[in-house]
This record gives sequence, C-alpha cells and structure tokens, in this order.
Amino acid sequence: MTGSSTQEQTTNTTNSAVANVAVDTSYENDSAYGDELSSYSASLTSSVLDFRQENGRRYHNFRDGSYLLPNDESESDRLDMFHELCLQLLHQKLYLAPIKNPQRVIDLATGTGIWAIDFADQHPQAEVIGCDLSPTQPSLVPPNVKFLVDDIESEWAYESNPFDFIHARYLAISIKDFGKLIKECYRSVKPGGWVEFQDWDGYPVSPDDSLKGTSLQRYYDEIYSAFEGAGYEVRPGPKLEQWFKEAGFVNVHVEQFVIPYGVWPKDHHLKNVGAWNQAQSETNGFEAAAMAPLTRFKNWTKEEVVVLASKARADGRNRKIHMMFNFYVVYGQRPEN
Ligand SMILES: C[S@@+](CC[C@H](N)C(=O)[O-])C[C@H]1O[C@@H](n2cnc3c(N)ncnc32)[C@H](O)[C@@H]1O
Repeated sequence: MTGSSTQEQTTNTTNSAVANVAVDTSYENDSAYGDELSSYSASLTSSVLDFRQENGRRYHNFRDGSYLLPNDESESDRLDMFHELCLQLLHQKLYLAPIKNPQRVIDLATGTGIWAIDFADQHPQAEVIGCDLSPTQPSLVPPNVKFLVDDIESEWAYESNPFDFIHARYLAISIKDFGKLIKECYRSVKPGGWVEFQDWDGYPVSPDDSLKGTSLQRYYDEIYSAFEGAGYEVRPGPKLEQWFKEAGFVNVHVEQFVIPYGVWPKDHHLKNVGAWNQAQSETNGFEAAAMAPLTRFKNWTKEEVVVLASKARADGRNRKIHMMFNFYVVYGQRPEN
C-alpha cells in the first residue's frame, strides 16, 4: 500500500436493502483486489443429449427452447462460481431453513448439481435428488445423490413420495409461473417439511445513480424486456414471501441480502461477495444471458449482442459505477396437519 487514505462515501438511498454500502476509494492508491478478474435415473435418450447449437453456445434439447441460457462448459463454470458466491454471501451455509435430519430432499433446477452434491456430503443419511432440463451434472457423485432430467413446470409426480426439504435457487429468468411452482412444492413436501427458495430481484440498482445512462443499464433493460416479453419472471425475490403464503406455508421467513457487482464496497464481506459476482458474470455471463433472448425475440445479430455484452462488462469494471442487486432467501413450512 502506498500511503492509502481511505475515504468513505456512503450511498444515499431510502431503499432499506441497498442503503449504506460504503464505497472503498482506497484503490485509487492501491488495492489487494486490483481491477483484474482478468447416475442419471432418467434414461438419457439421444434426443435429451442432442443439444441445440446456436451462435456459438450450446442449449438444452429436452423441452427445447423453454430455457434461454446455455448449458455448455463455460456456463457450468459460471454456475459453479455462482455457487461460491452464495456460500460467501451466506457464510458457508447451503440453506437457512431450520431442517432437522432430512431423509428425502430435492434441488429443483439443479444446474451443475453442485448444491445437491454439497448437501449430500453434509447429510449422508439423506437421499438427495437434483433435477434439471439438462443432464450436465457430473457422474462421480456421493452415493446418496441422483440426478433426473425433468421439467419442473410440468405436472409433478412426487405427491405419493413427498420430501422433507425442497430447495430451489436462482430460477429468475428460468420460470414463468412461480406461484404454480411453489404450490407444487407445497403438495410435494411432507407435513412439517420445509421449502426454501433463494432468488434475485434481477433489476440492478445504484443508489447514487452511477448506473444511469451506462451500457450496463442498457444491457439489463434490453435483456429483461426480452425475457419479460416472453413471459419469464425476472424479479422473483421480493415476491417469494407472498407466493409462499398464498400456497399455504406457515412460519414463512424472509432474509434480504445485497449483492454488489465488483470490488467497490469498502466493507470486506461485501467486497468479497461483489468480487465473486463480477467473476461469475465475467465467465461469459453477459453473453450467456443475452444471446438467446436478444437474437430469438428481438432479432439482434450475434455480433450486436457481443458488442453490448462487452460494453456492459467494461462498465462493470469501472469502480465508479456502484451497481448492486437485492437477493432473497425465503423459507416456509407445510403445517403439521
Ligand atoms: C440459472 S441456473 C441455476 C442453477 C442452480 N439452481 C444453481 O443455483 O446453481 C437455472 C437452471 O434451471 C434449469 N431450468 C430452467 N427451466 C427449468 C425447468 N422448467 N425445469 C427444470 N429445470 C429448469 C436450467 O437448465 C438451469 O440449469
């Protein structure tokens, strides 16, 4: 460090979740971070594995077209980084619900299966299922995990063999009808069992207005209007509590978190979380979320998407732009009787 005098800026906002995230300006002298972040049980028929290739990315084939992000290696790397981001955010906890000795657990839309694998390691007595449209999970996994190819927006068949715990994370821009999905969870969890969703409010905020007029702002406006036009839920986080209560859950508990983008916060924990958020987005994340919605629904060319994504990424590296997201962990219990 070269004589760093840490000046403190505090964001001025009335939004409770995003208030008072102090900006670390010490990087103008030096910074430790710097700016560089430079056994399937379903039978896997050939159609499930016959992935769609489009604009240089690979997409799921089962229920072709229903999920707009890729399922290739780059995206799997990004999702594994997102998992680490969540562990950092929640201080290494995989879930917050007060579950006790769960025997049967499902992770909905499990992605790379990393949450299900970690959960199975921590709960060797539990039988853990991870389901997803894509069979992209590893095959070397703990013996108490299995992965299924399944569409969670279709009718469920779990009521006769219900779960002690149902977990779902980061289904924003994946699912159209969260209310229906959460009612299915209610039907498929045992009386006294718990359901937990962890999800974004996808729209970014910057209480000091530093996001205004940037390519980052344009990026999110463009992609979310495409997702919303196609019927996907972009901001489930703040609505989860209501959906849980409407489904009949009791003891509904809500925790709201701030996830900054980048290393601009002064607070060490938020800086670390922000660094992981930037790292997962820089793993081709801007292109991943934009390519299919903008080319399929707004007739953009691949090149136009790449340009917008790279401008957004560049803005993301600008420490004068203080972007952050609200993230919610909501859990509830099915009544005992
Ligand atoms: C953004 S990723 C999140 C993955 C994982 N939950 C996590 O937290 O890392 C969304 C996942 O949802 C899956 N998905 C989307 N729609 C689905 C559906 N209708 N049924 C099952 N999985 C779905 C996608 O294939 C993708 O793996």
